[in-house]
Amino acid sequence: HNHIDHADPAKVEAAIAAGDTHAHLPDYERLDGYLAAGGYQVLKRLREAGDWEAVQEDLLASGLRGLGGAGFPSGRKWGFVRANDGPRYLAVNGDEGEPGTFKDRYYLERVPHLFLEGMLIAAWAVEAKTCFIYMRDEYPSVLEILRREIKALEDAALVDKGFIDLRRGAGAYICGEESAMIESIEGKRGLPRHRPPFVAQVGVFGRPTLVHNVETLHWVARVCREGPSVLNAIEKNGRTGLRSYSVSGRVAMPGVYLLPAGSTIRDIIEVAGGMAEGHVFKAYQPGGPSSGLLPAFIDDVPLDFDTLQPLGSFIGSAAVVVLSDQDSAKAAALNMLRFFEAESCGQCTPCRVGCEKAVKLMQADKWDRPLLEELCVAMADASICGLGQAAPNPIRLTMKHFPDEV
Ligand code: NAI
Ligand code: SF4
Repeated sequence: HNHIDHADPAKVEAAIAAGDTHAHLPDYERLDGYLAAGGYQVLKRLREAGDWEAVQEDLLASGLRGLGGAGFPSGRKWGFVRANDGPRYLAVNGDEGEPGTFKDRYYLERVPHLFLEGMLIAAWAVEAKTCFIYMRDEYPSVLEILRREIKALEDAALVDKGFIDLRRGAGAYICGEESAMIESIEGKRGLPRHRPPFVAQVGVFGRPTLVHNVETLHWVARVCREGPSVLNAIEKNGRTGLRSYSVSGRVAMPGVYLLPAGSTIRDIIEVAGGMAEGHVFKAYQPGGPSSGLLPAFIDDVPLDFDTLQPLGSFIGSAAVVVLSDQDSAKAAALNMLRFFEAESCGQCTPCRVGCEKAVKLMQADKWDRPLLEELCVAMADASICGLGQAAPNPIRLTMKHFPDEV
């Protein structure tokens, strides 16, 4: 730890001048500190005499689900990948592009070795030949932390040199879609692939590939170390486990909050210090723009996987953005569609043309609702990947819950 007050640039500069080579970075736990606290013991034990199926059982018992946003049971993926002959790869999705999502960054800037140990455990479990980490280039501190700590792991002989291959994204939202990410790792343009085959069968360079999000691997390490109860002992509102909510918008204290998975928007606003001064709660995105906008009166639903589908939404990566009486739902929805229009890879017509047409229609004073709904059906039903399939959510939910504005 460097324990420098980063709010004061003079102190950071003084520390750099005094020879502190970490002074410009966030105050994170380095390899020596992590090892001193018992880090990498689990990995060493597993590598010596571990049974991957026993670890998989612990993961399944913990209820850990994919925290990139899709919520697929993490342990099941290991079995899918292992069912295919090697060589196999592991690819970590660190692209964290969903607007309002910053939980992966939060953990990487504080406890990067929990993620790295989780990754090495998963790599051991599927006998991966290489671990690719696809990291968002907009996180320069994270990239530098990872470069330093991967080198420290190599120097400590905890991994072979070159086993971890750190790759930088280049700012395209679509490269966070797992198959587009794989294309990008292969050096190609990030275009999503059709499924099947799933990446567990045909992934990086055509080989079976285990894809996990950064935070998922952080929890793999914690479940292995602390047991499944670190997640499955936590119950609230009929839901089990924990969620790292990235909270932003009109709240007093935006940030990442680790709360029971059964938390409602009211609970989340409360821990974030309540509404910002002078703002009245009006609406929220439960999981970034792909999840659309919900009105403030829907305030007693646990924000978890599977609970929001009946409302036409989903929790995704738990990027909770809070809007107030000073925000326009219509303007927010238009902004979301402009984002999708800009980030569409252009590969399929329903999404490429659909997003563009939607933006045009949504700029009208009064929305042509039947025409927009027709467009939404085509986009949701016929787009290749999640971007085009989810893009109608903000349109539909805004028409449903904020009809007076549109
Ligand atoms: P998905 O449901 O298609 O897949 C989830 C995972 O399970 C994938 O790794 C897939 O390969 C695997 N899988 C599913 N069925 C399988 C089968 N039968 N056999 C083998 N593997 C299988 O969801 P997708 O498109 O990967 O993710 C969508 C989510 O991503 C959304 O919830 C969205 O919120 C989130 N998202 C998150 C972002 C972020 O910054 N964290 C950015 C954009 C979207
Ligand atoms: Fe590309 Fe959009 Fe089609 Fe996805 S839905 S493949 S982003 S054009």
